[in-house]
Amino acid sequence: MLTQMSSLESARASIAQARSVAVLTGAGISQESGIPTFRGPGGLWRNFRAEDLATPEAFARDPQLVWEWYAWRRGIIAQAQPNAAHHALAEWEPRVESFLLITQNVDGLHDRAGSQKLAKLHGDIWQVLCTRCGRRERNELVPLEPLPPRCLCGAIQRPDIVWFGEALPTEVWQQAVEATAHAQVFLVVGTSAIVHPAASLPAMAREAGAVLIEVNFEPTPLSALADLSFRGKAGELLPALLGA
Ligand code: OAD
Repeated sequence: MLTQMSSLESARASIAQARSVAVLTGAGISQESGIPTFRGPGGLWRNFRAEDLATPEAFARDPQLVWEWYAWRRGIIAQAQPNAAHHALAEWEPRVESFLLITQNVDGLHDRAGSQKLAKLHGDIWQVLCTRCGRRERNELVPLEPLPPRCLCGAIQRPDIVWFGEALPTEVWQQAVEATAHAQVFLVVGTSAIVHPAASLPAMAREAGAVLIEVNFEPTPLSALADLSFRGKAGELLPALLGA
């Protein structure tokens, strides 16, 4: 069995040669920035029920409660800074001919680190969507007032986030699938890889011939499928893997 050190060299070699790359990130990449993940120790879904907070039905029932939860999360995220993993990905992007960073995160830390070729599969916590006229706008107020926020048309706005039971934005998903199909290297970072359809991208990449590399604290359903799977913190492993 390869040691983590020789695997690192092998991953670095694949990464250095790749002309097309896709990356899938999840909440684990922002953990070292102080943002709670969803599952695992300290995960949000340990203390909150997704059905009460992250579904269209929950919002229809109690928009105030749902907004209070998002306003609390916005407060945490506003205090956070991108970490070494976000920066390593932003610095990798201009060195590769064809690059796409696909993220399940809504925290905006990839944008703040300077990533530009970014597909946000689950939306953006700093964007709001009118429940009546469908108008979208940025809203970066912390604390958020009024709560719930209102559109110019007078109706209440919702977080522009994909909730359980909702479809992913079609164009963004298409872009992700295309990049996945063409990737020579597909890197997965800090996701439990159980929420579909995002979780189906790594297998798609592997089938299309990509070298699949995983970085995670712990084993996931993807670990057995990955060509190389690294156990550890994204903030330490990504600079080691991607550093020029
Ligand atoms: P999860 O919370 O399910 O998984 C986070 C993963 O990151 C776990 O596998 C951890 O082991 C790993 N991890 C934690 N800290 C890490 C670190 N410092 N370095 C490396 N790995 C680390 O988060 P996601 O997979 O992103 O959906 O969850 C997917 C979706 O489920 C989210 O986008 C969210 C949630 O419900 C929506 O909000 C729509």
